[in-house]
Amino acid sequence: MKTIIEPFRIKVVEPIRVTTVAERERLLAAANYNLFALQSRDVLIDLLTDSGTSAMSSAQWSALMNGDESYAGSPSYTRFEAAVRDMMPFKHIIPTHQGRAAEAILCSIVAGEGLIVPNNTHFDTTRGNFEGVGIEALDLVIDEGRDPSCQHPFKGNMDLDRLESLLAKHGDRVPLVMTTITNNAGGGQPVSMANIAATKALCERYGKPLFIDSCRFAENSYFIKLREAGFADRSVRDIVREIFSYADGMTMSAKKDAFANIGGWLALNDDDWAEQARTRLIMTEGFPTYGGMSGRDMECVAAGLAEITDEDYLCYRIRSIEYISERLADFGVPVMRPAGGHAVYVDAKAMLPHIPPLQYPGQALLAAVYVAGGIRGVEIGSFMFGRQPDGSEKPAAMELVRLAMPRRGYTQSHADYLVEVFEEVNRNKHAIRGLEISWEPKSLRHFTGKLRPV
Ligand code: F0G
Repeated sequence: MKTIIEPFRIKVVEPIRVTTVAERERLLAAANYNLFALQSRDVLIDLLTDSGTSAMSSAQWSALMNGDESYAGSPSYTRFEAAVRDMMPFKHIIPTHQGRAAEAILCSIVAGEGLIVPNNTHFDTTRGNFEGVGIEALDLVIDEGRDPSCQHPFKGNMDLDRLESLLAKHGDRVPLVMTTITNNAGGGQPVSMANIAATKALCERYGKPLFIDSCRFAENSYFIKLREAGFADRSVRDIVREIFSYADGMTMSAKKDAFANIGGWLALNDDDWAEQARTRLIMTEGFPTYGGMSGRDMECVAAGLAEITDEDYLCYRIRSIEYISERLADFGVPVMRPAGGHAVYVDAKAMLPHIPPLQYPGQALLAAVYVAGGIRGVEIGSFMFGRQPDGSEKPAAMELVRLAMPRRGYTQSHADYLVEVFEEVNRNKHAIRGLEISWEPKSLRHFTGKLRPV
């Protein structure tokens, strides 16, 4: 059969409240044109994030009842640890309440003014955490990864030449190297196995640990199976194991590729760093056998990890994103090519060339899409990244709108509705106006900043 179906049926539903254009115009103005300020009941299709928004399976819901909430020595931790270690055999697995807590603990260990941590592209919380402890967060993705229209199978790859020259020149200032799979801020684009292995080889040559920001490890592994020579006949689980064989540590948000609504972990091999991490964990998250999670959360993560490498699921997952991207491209909406793993990325700079980057074309497009169809997405552009640590403002490398698909949450007709909304917005795009900031906090302004039409 050529139709790829959602490989699940629905047992529980959550009603969606239908709103009108006039209502949404009012709600958007009241939210100061920042979609983070909307109530979720005012959103029809919520594509703000794929994080923590997955529909859990019946196996996960039943695992939840096995949660053991003991402060120390919970068997739920043992099951969680075994599920992680089955694919990511690190010596120390440290549970946190989500990915950014794992990042913050890692940052507390390596903190220091003048240090540099390279990554293919740091996500906002990763960048925020490193910058918060005085570390420069440096993005070294390949040039193809900065061009939304460029076709390349692994646009998340690290630029190995630039990484090598950084390590050669400033190696003493680099406490660790990171790579993000898939490269979320760069369009959900995968990193190839060859690139991960070569990054590890460079790290070894210069005596640096390699950490993987692993949120979407299963999607990345499926892309390797589809696109990289020599992997077509390997199972996704096996590919995952090979990826982590190159790493000295990982940070993870279980809210993505573990199908959980909350959770995460930091894993690493170094005993001394692990001791420091656990001390910090006890101060900020919790005892080492639960960290930031309840026993039932750890059960859900363990059950989710057993499901996430299912290849029928991954086939449907990747295809559903690609389907929307193709349909949008059909009527001329410039989308990130090839389609990413967890989200459709629209190139707002190319779609709205009449809006300068510092009038936030991505945010302006999102506002129009919300009014037209009640769909909420997120800007990954100058509103998110434009403010520099020294207080100046400069345009981001790309002006993207991300429409992130919650895992197993929406169906084909939701996808078709989304396409219809974009068709209408695209027809009227010349009338979309830019935005200016009326208030912003000192950092991470895209979450709480306020805007108004220019
Ligand atoms: N790293 C990457 C690549 C991420 O995408 C995220 C979260 C994190 C780290 C932090 O994990 O949310 O569990 O603390 N990304 C979400 C998103 C929020 O919408 O892309 P967290």
